[in-house]
Amino acid sequence: MKAIVVRPPNKGVSVEEVEIKERVGVGQVRIKSVMTGICGTDRGIVNGKLSFSYPPKDYNFLILGHEALGRVEEVGEGVKELKKGDYVVPVVRRGCGVCLNCKIGRQDFCETGNFIEAGIRGKHGFMREEYVDDEKYLVKVPEEVVDIAVLTEPFSNVVKAINGLLFVQRRMVWNCEDSSFECRTAFVVGTGPIGTFFSLLLRTLGFDVYILNKRDASPTEEYIAEKIGATFVDTEKESDKLPPTDLIVDTSGVPSAFIPLMKKMKHNSALILFGTIEGERAEITSDLVTEIVEKNIIIMGSVNASKRDFQEALNYLSIWKYRYGDVLSRMITSMVSVEEAPKVLMSKPKGEIKTVIKWA
Ligand code: BGC
Ligand code: ZN
Repeated sequence: MKAIVVRPPNKGVSVEEVEIKERVGVGQVRIKSVMTGICGTDRGIVNGKLSFSYPPKDYNFLILGHEALGRVEEVGEGVKELKKGDYVVPVVRRGCGVCLNCKIGRQDFCETGNFIEAGIRGKHGFMREEYVDDEKYLVKVPEEVVDIAVLTEPFSNVVKAINGLLFVQRRMVWNCEDSSFECRTAFVVGTGPIGTFFSLLLRTLGFDVYILNKRDASPTEEYIAEKIGATFVDTEKESDKLPPTDLIVDTSGVPSAFIPLMKKMKHNSALILFGTIEGERAEITSDLVTEIVEKNIIIMGSVNASKRDFQEALNYLSIWKYRYGDVLSRMITSMVSVEEAPKVLMSKPKGEIKTVIKWA
């Protein structure tokens, strides 16, 4: 079958004919690929910059792809919920099998670090015509969001991060007088798909959201900001417009982008670090440390997501499709063929929010 193949740590990516023998066992289903999304992690791998990427055992290559939408083609014995024709999204991470979190389906909080991730480390991904997977790792997609469900995986990571934040912030009373979050402010640094999803989710929870970038908004970004009622701020020109904040979410991974903003952080506020990048430096001063301590500021890193976060993500997608119309479909800024994929994997097309590969 056709697959998009990488050989980490080497640079490069190609469409190849591969033979992967997978039989449908008990509790498993065969899935035909419908769409796969491309993200920064994929680009890090194809450009030889993600040191933790490696092929599965017994293979000298890795099939890329962890943002997937597929259709069930064949159902094995013992499969309970899924049937032929159902649309599904697979979870990315598979647990170590040893730690308690992995044993209860929270491999996104694996303690040993011995997990594998489809299309990233130690497990073939979903950029191929078909694959076999366990039913327990598949999330069923409601019909009404099949067109945008390829966005589920990146969004699930955002759902997990916000759930973590709300849990940690129960260390005190963080709600407003009416018990909502409408008195709270959030800065979201970065306007890619992850930043956009953070903005959407935080708006939905009632936060006053400032979407930050070091440039003007593109027409699509302007449209999305307006539609969801967020304020786009070009930090090069309009930093003075920013009020004190209860939350900063960094999706850029660039310390010099979020550290200067930290002086705006209020008492008991939080900083979520989500983005990662290579070779950036910025200084943390002892003054900043004092601020963090004296103001009870929390800093939380977040990665990956559990099946529950995927389900919650799909519920939000269904609601937002009605509430915000084409905002979500507009996030898919281009749809390419499998043959065109290597080019867009090597470098990001201009104006991209999410580029998607169409399989069937
Ligand atoms: C994926 C996560 C994964 C992470 C690894 C992200 O692009 O969405 O599922 O855990 O990469 O750094
Ligand atoms: Zn990703």
